[in-house]
Amino acid sequence: MNTKELDSKYVAHTYARFPLEIVRGKGALAYDEEGKEYLDLSSGIAVNTFGYGDEEWANSVSSQLLSLQHTSNLYYTSPCATLAKLLCEKTGMSKVFFSNSGAEANECAIKLARAHGEKKGGKDCFKIICLESSFHGRTLATLAATGQAVFHEKFQPLPEGFVFAKAGDIESVEKLIEENNCCAVFMELIQGEGGVNVLEKEFVQKVYSLAKENDLLFMIDEVQTGNGRTGKLYAYMHYDVKPDVFTTAKGLGGGLPIGACVMGEKAQDLLSFGDHGSTFGGNPAVCAGAVNIISRLTDEFLSEVTAKGEYLKKKLSETEGIREISGMGMMLGFLAEKESAEVISAAREKGLLVIKAKNKIRLLPPLCVTYEQLDKAVEILASCVR
Ligand SMILES: Cc1ncc(COP(=O)(O)O)c(C=O)c1O
Repeated sequence: MNTKELDSKYVAHTYARFPLEIVRGKGALAYDEEGKEYLDLSSGIAVNTFGYGDEEWANSVSSQLLSLQHTSNLYYTSPCATLAKLLCEKTGMSKVFFSNSGAEANECAIKLARAHGEKKGGKDCFKIICLESSFHGRTLATLAATGQAVFHEKFQPLPEGFVFAKAGDIESVEKLIEENNCCAVFMELIQGEGGVNVLEKEFVQKVYSLAKENDLLFMIDEVQTGNGRTGKLYAYMHYDVKPDVFTTAKGLGGGLPIGACVMGEKAQDLLSFGDHGSTFGGNPAVCAGAVNIISRLTDEFLSEVTAKGEYLKKKLSETEGIREISGMGMMLGFLAEKESAEVISAAREKGLLVIKAKNKIRLLPPLCVTYEQLDKAVEILASCVR
């Protein structure tokens, strides 16, 4: 049996895979089993920060693997401590809890919110305000925090305690605060899976003020937007706000599993010994790779991500059949004249990999993508969108 046959026989059918087996890659280029080249503007859904086969990152991981691959969280290890220090120094936050995925990072944020609620108002203070069209993960609690009913079907009852406001509608947030015993707000600043919806600065700043006034933890999900993707190290940095908690994952690991729940002053002491844990969280090899990635996301590099994002946006806006372009940096979405699934498969046939976000087409290039590759991508898209 070939890989596709083995996979469909033995791997749970939870993914509608594209008919393509990727066997290797370099930078923004991926190759299938027959050697056909693809320009990959999805980077493993915002994971491969420096693309495929990045030597600097791979060397950091592999040298760590050969000296110490894992010890458990019963012992101290240098890469974990170093990564936590780097994240705190670059963000002004205070403490980090490491896990293995975005959903787990968000589970930690939800536990922090509950712990804050308990401290603030006792057992009944546990409601978390989330947004419609959000996506926070596939575990039961993160599904419950996700504002899209389509993901909830089949899995009822979900954990209680999540209420939903409309993105951009500050009155809906105020109403939820009045009507519920709330401990936190939790949102993405660019809703990735929800259609690359960028929240307005004014709305976010008002939610931030409301959170402060009402003693709610202000928590931001940076699982997709984080680690340089939007042209800042974390997307909240575009908004002149400082979260009490932010979560990240995906691009932090550059291709290996990691999640991080990053706590500011207000949240740093909410969890104590025994309150939370993860066998693999803070794994030395994964953290050594993440230290390499975060160290390379300098201001100069991030300005280039912004410039490439603006360049790509402009080229897309000049392309017939493309409209409603949204996003920032290397996280963009747009509507095409043709149905998005049709555009995605036509592009793949022509050697370009892009993905969906609701009814939009989403572009998440590796941050090292070149201008020539962006030109080529737009040229292919132009021939598929109408
Ligand atoms: C904003 C956001 N939060 C959470 C998650 C869940 O992350 P993971 O799949 O690593 O659990 C995702 C995944 O797409 C995401 O985009």
